[in-house]
Amino acid sequence: MPRKTLRLDSRDRNTKRGEMTAAGDVLISMKDIERVFYTDEVETHALSDVDLEIRKGEYVSIEGPSGSGKSTLLSIIGLLDSPSDGQYLFKREAVETLNISQRAVIRNREIGFIFQSFNLIGDLTVYENVELPLTYRAMSGSERKQRVQQALERVGISHRTRHYPSQLSGGQQQRVAVARALAGNPSILLADEPTGNLDSQNANAVMELLGELHREGATICMVTHDPRFAQHAERGIHLFDGRVVTKSEAAKSMADSAANRTF
Ligand SMILES: Nc1ncnc2c1ncn2[C@@H]1O[C@H](COP(=O)(O)OP(=O)(O)O)[C@@H](O)[C@H]1O
Ligand SMILES: [Mg+2]
Repeated sequence: MPRKTLRLDSRDRNTKRGEMTAAGDVLISMKDIERVFYTDEVETHALSDVDLEIRKGEYVSIEGPSGSGKSTLLSIIGLLDSPSDGQYLFKREAVETLNISQRAVIRNREIGFIFQSFNLIGDLTVYENVELPLTYRAMSGSERKQRVQQALERVGISHRTRHYPSQLSGGQQQRVAVARALAGNPSILLADEPTGNLDSQNANAVMELLGELHREGATICMVTHDPRFAQHAERGIHLFDGRVVTKSEAAKSMADSAANRTF
């Protein structure tokens, strides 16, 4: 369904923001992204020189050991955080030119987040959790209801709508979180270690679900440190110490750091 929100970029007259971009169009484009954190006189270069492009319809994994900058990168992609330097274009629009409320609109409409710890609100029911992001939009109650029900059906949890998160298993909670992300019909799903708090059976089920969503056309960017799950994606980006490296460089760096730890 067409949704218009913000003014159009002059270069972008044929793709109004919020309307479906054609499969293959560039959705995310990053160049020379840096992110530096300053704490107690310590300077952490969480990301350095990161270039990244994600096209509509792709399923991309971001892999790397703990502390390599995966969550930082995903937060920047999802407009939860801003780079210290570099250029980020979301649907060809320079993110740095957007004000706080424009960024919030993009997060709400264009991006579906799925976190390791589910991030459901404990005193809202399953239904209310999925509905919540939609209440920030100008949308009729009947459309909201239809979207929530469709999303819950899609993840196979429509028999639990009146339950509270604490009454569900971890696997069920993550399904609800996926439904919440889907209900807004976002341009991209961002998942940060979505299986990290799940046993292997539930983890596999969530990965299957993401794979199905991708085959149905969803664009997905998933952070994982588990190579088995990374294989579900079409393409992998490997991070090491905040830099994008090739798969073989990543393997070598891992081996070197393991060797340094041992001896
Ligand atoms: N808010 C922050 N303040 C200071 N340092 C941070 C912050 N967030 C992340 N870092 C540091 O940046 C690096 C990358 O972190 P992160 O992106 O969370 O890695 P990963 O998700 O790959 O485990 C780590 O060294 C981490 O300690
Ligand atoms: Mg992380």
